[in-house]
Amino acid sequence: MTISKTASSNVSSPYTIEKRLQLQHLLSSTQAKEIKQVDGSDVVKGLSQTPKSLPPRYFYDDKGSQLFEQICELPEYYLTRTETAILQKYAGEVASFTGACELVELGSGSSTKTRVLLDAYQELGYPLRYLPIDVSAGILENSAKDLLADYPSLQVNGIVSTYELALENLPAAELPSRAICFIGSTLGNLKPEECERFFSQITSALQVGEYFLLGIDLQKPAHLLNAAYNDSQGVTAAFNLNMLEHLNWKFDGNFDTTQFEHWAFYNESQHQIEMHLKSKRSQSVHLRALDLTVEFEMGETILTEISRKFDINVMQQYLEARRLKPLQVWTDADRWFGLVLCQLQSA
Ligand code: AVI
Repeated sequence: MTISKTASSNVSSPYTIEKRLQLQHLLSSTQAKEIKQVDGSDVVKGLSQTPKSLPPRYFYDDKGSQLFEQICELPEYYLTRTETAILQKYAGEVASFTGACELVELGSGSSTKTRVLLDAYQELGYPLRYLPIDVSAGILENSAKDLLADYPSLQVNGIVSTYELALENLPAAELPSRAICFIGSTLGNLKPEECERFFSQITSALQVGEYFLLGIDLQKPAHLLNAAYNDSQGVTAAFNLNMLEHLNWKFDGNFDTTQFEHWAFYNESQHQIEMHLKSKRSQSVHLRALDLTVEFEMGETILTEISRKFDINVMQQYLEARRLKPLQVWTDADRWFGLVLCQLQSA
């Protein structure tokens, strides 16, 4: 397919915005409901085992998503601004590597960092096509509309979905190539076995020669990591505790958030932050909709998240072994954060 470069000077209006926006909802099917486990079976499982754990996806109700946006602005939470600075410096190089290329973004959220990439493709005169994927329809639609207002030649095909479902159901590419972007270090929140599954979904979704752009947080001294997940304003603590409020709302529960505390630390041997909620006393909690009563001993913990920190060389080997050949790695001067552009090789 050949694509001519565009230099659009369209004036955007609500009409043209509607015409350039397509939204697909993959989460209404029964299959999707099973994948999302809206029945709470994952909560029952996590709270019935020892040690207790909960899936990190329960962080993200409306309040949790707002708290996460606040975390990204915190002085101690270097991740977002470091990755943004790398993108600002090197997005032009990313666009030069890929040429005309549509951007698929997993967990697009507010799409703030995507703007830096779109600017780079626009600067090189390439057509702009963006496929954001997010489980939150509201956030996805609002951020898509904001982008369409600011980029008059942009086409958006938003997919309200989990990564898994969306990667299995991506529409055919309309530009000569495609890049799947997984930025923000979300890969770090996957356990090793979840990572394996994720990469086999990525390689199935891409055609040989297409691209994968990955943003990862890198290993660094423990005091910097401990500070990033124990901020002085207590926003991360509120984010962590909000998971219990979310469960109360969703499953008619009676967690008393004043009786749990945020506990996060860097596990140096595993190279991961572990975030827990620690019970301040022995207590019993009931989740009526799940017909579940959970007993806590004083000091007992629930693991709510891991956030893995990677070695950039090990990651390159890992990607290469999965047919994702790293073409270029960019980092900040301190090597705190890494951005890797890969290209899918034939089997
Ligand atoms: C979304 N994810 C990359 C964040 C992280 O740093 O692992 C989630 C987070 N948890 C606490 N602070 C931020």
